[in-house]
Amino acid sequence: MLRTREDRLRADFENIADQYGRERNALLPILQEVKRRYHEISDFAMQSIADILEIHPVEVYGVVTFYAFLSEKYHGKYVIRLCRTISCKMANMENVARQLENELGIAFGETTEDGFFTLEYAHCLGMCDQSPALLINDEVFTRVTPEQVNLILQSCRKNLTAINPLMKEAMV
Ligand code: FES
Repeated sequence: MLRTREDRLRADFENIADQYGRERNALLPILQEVKRRYHEISDFAMQSIADILEIHPVEVYGVVTFYAFLSEKYHGKYVIRLCRTISCKMANMENVARQLENELGIAFGETTEDGFFTLEYAHCLGMCDQSPALLINDEVFTRVTPEQVNLILQSCRKNLTAINPLMKEAMV
């Protein structure tokens, strides 16, 4: 029997819900997992998850929009979050921000066309004594200089290449 893309997505959401429990208090880890797999939480995903957990879609929407890390927006494979709170500002995070924008050809709040990188600002990451700080997915980088930006991005690209050799061509 032919299955539509929506059928397949729905089945995957069901699997994720089974993994974390089909209960309201599993909503956050379910949403985190959906975000991790699909890099976005679409309207369809929110509606499906609400159906699966038997809760109102507004509840799901409320959680998604409350947590910046979830956000319904599409995010690249690597989400780069640069702190712009006071200590990092004083440590010239603006220079790092400009370098990131120049290297990736996008502004903050945007994702590269290849879907690999998203640039976002963040609030204090708790590394104020080692400013400027940035977070790439779950990894923290401290005392970042504009000169290091290229190296950091290269290492991300290398990982992407290792994950999927087919991406290599697109990254040259
Ligand atoms: Fe940037 Fe605290 S102010 S890590």
